[in-house]
Amino acid sequence: MPTYITTHTGGTPTTRAASLLSTALSQLDPSSPAYSTLVEAHSLVAGEETYIERNTSELIVPAGHAVLEQEVREVWDELLRGTTETDWKAVKDREETTFELGAGMCSGPYEAVVLQNFALMQGAKTVLEIGVFTGTATLALALLPSVTQVVALDIEPFLESFNTPYWTRAGVSSKIDLRIAPALESLAKLKQEGHEGFDLVFIDADKPSYRTYVEQVLELGLLKENGVILVDNTLYKGYPWVPPASTDQSTYAKSNRTNNKSKSEATKGIDDFNTYVRSHPDLETAVLPIRDGITVIRRRI
Ligand SMILES: C[S@@+](CC[C@H](N)C(=O)[O-])C[C@H]1O[C@@H](n2cnc3c(N)ncnc32)[C@H](O)[C@@H]1O
Repeated sequence: MPTYITTHTGGTPTTRAASLLSTALSQLDPSSPAYSTLVEAHSLVAGEETYIERNTSELIVPAGHAVLEQEVREVWDELLRGTTETDWKAVKDREETTFELGAGMCSGPYEAVVLQNFALMQGAKTVLEIGVFTGTATLALALLPSVTQVVALDIEPFLESFNTPYWTRAGVSSKIDLRIAPALESLAKLKQEGHEGFDLVFIDADKPSYRTYVEQVLELGLLKENGVILVDNTLYKGYPWVPPASTDQSTYAKSNRTNNKSKSEATKGIDDFNTYVRSHPDLETAVLPIRDGITVIRRRI
């Protein structure tokens, strides 16, 4: 049985389906009539993300960038490796972070290129990222020549020391304004400072707060007239429409050491958020099945 391997570790509806099919197959007699059909279904689902990633360009590094392309790519690989190889539980146990972070939180190299394409198509100059983690999306967006500023919000001070050396070596740190505080406080501060608003907002922090983040971005005037909000994980591993089977319910509902508190709370946050955006009279929205779901939100035209 092929194991599912992607360059990314975070779960998606597809990786979850692949894993369920793999479990079913391991319990099935290969001579059973359903076996070969299930093998085909598993291969289909398990191979999709790998196929997509293989046929998507690598990180876009503009020709005129101040740091040589080769060097940027080396830094990028090191950052991805550093994200994966860091023992985030040990970091939390040493009390260097408040919550337990994890490599699966990183949106990954494929999504970075998707985000770069969104920003390029939109001609975004100013970007707001809510939830930075190791700053891969931040770096990718700041690389684009049209982007002049990325205001990046996170709650964990540890990430400043982790991320900054990579951003500096990639030649993008002068464009990145990292603010360490609860995101709602940082949003209020941006308003106080009279920020004129962002062309592109990328929301990718604690799931139960997603609705509040959109409300605040709009109420505080932080989205430019033709601005776009992108929101990550809006399919949340498929939990909104297929919660885990009863055998997995204990881990699903159990509180954990991230500030999502539990996967069931995060699921509810995402589901409520999706309903809220879809029924908002002033917004248009499209949910795209890109990895764990990316929702595009814009004002009605
Ligand atoms: C999924 S990760 C972000 C991933 C990142 N955008 C990327 O593309 O790789 C979520 C981040 O949100 C941060 N976060 C969670 N709650 C927050 C809050 N209330 N305010 C600011 N940041 C928060 C976490 O510390 C974590 O780094």
